[in-house]
Amino acid sequence: MCGIVGYVGPRPAQPIIIDGLRRMEYRGYDSAGITVVADGQLAARKKAGKLANLEAELLAHPLPESHQGIGHTRWATHGGPTDANAHPHLSADDRVAVVHNGIIENFATLRAELAADGIEFRSQTDSEAVAHLLRRQLDVTPGLADALRAVCRRLEGAFTLVAVDAAQPGLIVAARRSSPLVVGVGEGEMFLASDVASFIEHTRHAIELGQDQVVAITAGSVDVTDFAGRPAEVRPYEIEWDLSSAEKGGFDWFMRKEIFEQPHAAADTLLGRIDPDGRLCLDEMRIDRALLRSVDKIVIIACGTAYHAGLIAKYAIEHWTRVPCEVELASEFRYRDPIVTRTTLVVAISQSGETMDTLMAIRHAREQHAAVVAICNTNGATIPRESDAVIYTHAGPEIGVASTKCFTAQIIACYLLGLYLAQERGTKFGDEILSLVEELAGIPDKMQAVLDSLEPMKALALDLVANKDFIFLGRHVGYPIALEGALKLKEISYLHAEGFAAGELKHGPIALVEPGVPVFVVVPPQGRDSLHDKVISNIQEVRARGAKTIVLAEEGDPEAGAFATKLIELPVVPTLFQPMLAIIPLQYFACEVATLKGYDVDQPRNLAKSVTVE
Ligand code: AGP
Repeated sequence: MCGIVGYVGPRPAQPIIIDGLRRMEYRGYDSAGITVVADGQLAARKKAGKLANLEAELLAHPLPESHQGIGHTRWATHGGPTDANAHPHLSADDRVAVVHNGIIENFATLRAELAADGIEFRSQTDSEAVAHLLRRQLDVTPGLADALRAVCRRLEGAFTLVAVDAAQPGLIVAARRSSPLVVGVGEGEMFLASDVASFIEHTRHAIELGQDQVVAITAGSVDVTDFAGRPAEVRPYEIEWDLSSAEKGGFDWFMRKEIFEQPHAAADTLLGRIDPDGRLCLDEMRIDRALLRSVDKIVIIACGTAYHAGLIAKYAIEHWTRVPCEVELASEFRYRDPIVTRTTLVVAISQSGETMDTLMAIRHAREQHAAVVAICNTNGATIPRESDAVIYTHAGPEIGVASTKCFTAQIIACYLLGLYLAQERGTKFGDEILSLVEELAGIPDKMQAVLDSLEPMKALALDLVANKDFIFLGRHVGYPIALEGALKLKEISYLHAEGFAAGELKHGPIALVEPGVPVFVVVPPQGRDSLHDKVISNIQEVRARGAKTIVLAEEGDPEAGAFATKLIELPVVPTLFQPMLAIIPLQYFACEVATLKGYDVDQPRNLAKSVTVE
């Protein structure tokens, strides 16, 4: 998730673009850049790190006066956060500049084609290929919009592209596929942006672009077509939000926005990891394949929500690879003198990639000669840099301290790792892996179905907000969901909430159950041998003691509703895929309760987004 800004009009472009990038600061960035068109030439500045680094660069090396330009803040996917990988990317002759948000799935093929044409790449990014393709296309179709349309027809994946051509001053073109782009219509000036936050102070007249559309703007005109060049319908609208709401996409909290971003985050995490013949291709996995085949133990290390993702991953990885898989709290791992050898594969799960507990744990593991693969959401962070390999979740920046979209993206990344190991070790046939990958590919839509039916959670939150104690129950992969649901409620509403393995209830925790205690229960899909029936019995046990039972079960489960005070129905998926759906109502419930209590959902007391102390 990057930030993109474009401006053309009578005013100096640089300050408008830089302010626009700053207004999208919440989108996170590890580098920033700007290109302006002046006197028939492009002038570009770009720097790794925060926007302030680019501003310092601009002070040291000012750009020429210009009334047209594009800017970008990067959330790295392909290629680390360096000056060279920062956008804009320019063609070899510095005539064309492009900024990009998204993932070009077929960029490796395109890079190879361009390299064969003698193009020397200056970065490791997928985006640079577009700048070279566009420049080459201009020799065939001189119009910038026509050239961009031709290039877009060759691209696979998700992208927002914005481009300028030094030989066509006063014109900015852009394209979008499954990635945000909006036009701001001013008085004799035009804006392009990833979201309205960047130009809302200049104009509230906007045009939303649809899928597979190209827009060409000048100071006084907007022209929208499809990728074939056919005129497209234009959807103008008035922006009602204030700046704060605009940054949150109209949501009240970043956390709530990020709950609703989960389908996109899941889909982006899957993008580009399955090759045309259905094999998994984790190109970041630089661990020797022979070693992967010799691994005799897997140890997942993480903290908090990431640890809960690891607990879920354990079920899938052991089932698919038949390799013993332990899950360890990072803060405990190195103090228990763990058994780690050269044939141990350590998996470090960390959204921030900076959690000190996890970092110290993997350092210990590497001292014992274990191979380490990181599952991380932050490109170039310390933990992936100190690991042998990394699988990035492409969830985009997660601003809310309570982790939501990164949690479900972590599960998906762990499943990709498990299937990759099964593929490399031959413990699953290709067709079995393909059908599991197809199941994964269907998860974003099923997540969206859950998001579309969250309204009843508002009433439930209102009903339970006065309660002081909450119990969450689950079995199998439902047990880590119980733990995660409890953690979400704890960390933002400051209420006592506890997750238990449902089978443990009778060994003590059931003493906590008294009339009116809310008990959330995650019911496994039917047909899960006796697991399903045992959880139904657990619901009866707590119901018999007066608990309010909030039951999460698959649609059409004939028994789950019988003992439910409130039934939350989930789309039907195989057992291992239920966690990515069941957690969503629990995330939303926690967010709603904390909101009702008037707390700061995004920055709860005592907590930090990244815990960089042990
Ligand atoms: C989750 O809601 C919390 N913010 C916290 O438990 C977090 O998951 C944990 O600190 C690990 O952070 P990391 O993923 O950045 O390593």
